[in-house]
Amino acid sequence: MAYEQEINRRRTFAIISHPDAGKTTLTEKLLLYGGAIHVAGAVKSNKIKKTATSDWMEIEKQRGISVATSVMGFEYRGYKINILDTPGHQDFAEDTFRTLTAVDSVIIVVDAAKGVEAQTRKLMQVCTMRKTPVMIFVNKMDREGKDPFDLLDELEAELGIGVRPLSWPINMGMKFKGVYNIYQEKLNLYTPNKQKVSETVAVDIDSAELDTMVGEEDAAKLRQDLELIDGVYDPFDVNDYLAADIAPVFFGSALNTFGVRELLDCFVEIAPAPLPVEAEERRVVPTEEAFTGFVFKIHANMDPNHRSCIAFVKVCSGRFERNVNYKHIRLGKMLKFSAPTAFMAQKKETVDEAYAGDIVGLPDTGNFKIGDTLTSGEELHFKGLPSFSPEMFKYIENADPMKTKQLQKGLDQLMGEGVAQLFTHSNNNRRIVGTVGQLQFEVIEYRLLHEYGAQCRWEPVSLYKACWIESDDAEELENFKRRKFQYMATDKDGRDVFLAESGYLLQMAQADFPKIRFHFTSEF
Ligand code: G4P
Repeated sequence: MAYEQEINRRRTFAIISHPDAGKTTLTEKLLLYGGAIHVAGAVKSNKIKKTATSDWMEIEKQRGISVATSVMGFEYRGYKINILDTPGHQDFAEDTFRTLTAVDSVIIVVDAAKGVEAQTRKLMQVCTMRKTPVMIFVNKMDREGKDPFDLLDELEAELGIGVRPLSWPINMGMKFKGVYNIYQEKLNLYTPNKQKVSETVAVDIDSAELDTMVGEEDAAKLRQDLELIDGVYDPFDVNDYLAADIAPVFFGSALNTFGVRELLDCFVEIAPAPLPVEAEERRVVPTEEAFTGFVFKIHANMDPNHRSCIAFVKVCSGRFERNVNYKHIRLGKMLKFSAPTAFMAQKKETVDEAYAGDIVGLPDTGNFKIGDTLTSGEELHFKGLPSFSPEMFKYIENADPMKTKQLQKGLDQLMGEGVAQLFTHSNNNRRIVGTVGQLQFEVIEYRLLHEYGAQCRWEPVSLYKACWIESDDAEELENFKRRKFQYMATDKDGRDVFLAESGYLLQMAQADFPKIRFHFTSEF
């Protein structure tokens, strides 16, 4: 098999969390361990400052800066690690959803005091749907938080996945003493330090040494806790993790660079190397010789004078090379790239090659849309870039009749970039834009005007959800579409979409038409 060694040492994953749980801090500490940066505070995060929430230009600017941190690669213990960053702002959740299609595993960061929060729950649904293996890092143990056992129960209940602690905290907050690494049977004593990494010591849990180290009371509590863990949870089986049935849980404090090594060491050992990817035609295995890849994200340039973007390509198999012709399947033409970029720590640099598992950034001026496939020549179409049921809707109207074409072109391209989703109402042919956040409407309006010279106008439409429908019973489907004619639309691919005005009406429709399947993502 081709390039097997190179490919098998790659670990491509994303860190996800609710804003403020500590994703940026953890990312930075992982880079610190990898030697990719030398001081903490060096990561210009993808984090969008809270003060800027109403000013999307500012947000876009920050997103622009964050191109370099979209992917962060580093070497650790012989592994090549690629962290895919995800935007913190919830209005860009759709970006995050798509990023999750390009990773092989995920680390979830949870704030020990807040537990599972809304955004985490939502992102976890995507992992569940895709059966992505997840690890959980319970952060901020240096502060008072929830009881660890209660937290584990909450994680199981709220995230819908089994959990298995692989490290265990000794007290918390002011009394936080450290973590016991269940996986390696080592003790890591807590010394708060924002810059340096702490050392672990092997300790026999039943020895008097433990009492000396953490005090009799905490030692007794730790022994008791570990016994309880053994009693309640099955022994850890890596296959359960890989099958996305069990999430190993680690405790620590990212800010204090504590408990992070336990996570990282276990991660490189058990996290999956690049996994096979499904194409419509067949399953593509990473170690196949021929290059294949797909575009999962497009980052627009903020300079309206050149409509240039970076298309992010996940290499699914083989080796990608600079200045070699590859087939753009949707356009049916060969393209070569003279300046592909890869991302090491925070440096974006031109690369000559990249292997399955890696992400390359291709400068582009409108050739790419989200979901496009590139290959060495084979006709392949990668699946698995779902659209998610949007939550906010507006009619979009042309405000300048002289610029109809420009509006159409702009809308086509922005939708291709995945900025939002467009539906056409069957009843009146009006176009509806669906988003996950208010901000995206502003982004669309601004970009249509500044990049395409088109003006749009928004009109309210009161909708609760748009869901894709299908049925094995063609007659019933037609019947449904006839009965619900005023609530039907089509998506960009001409698929049937039901526009539910309220949760109640959606439930009624589901109850009245049991033979119709309602889907909340376009991938079914
Ligand atoms: P995010 O990317 O998930 O949004 O979170 P981020 O890492 O930016 O962390 C959010 C806040 O939580 C930051 O404080 C950060 O310093 C703090 N934090 C992260 N890890 C820990 C931890 O282990 N313990 C404690 N006590 N705090 C932690 P901030 O005041 O919002 O920002 P900053 O001014 O410190 O950057």
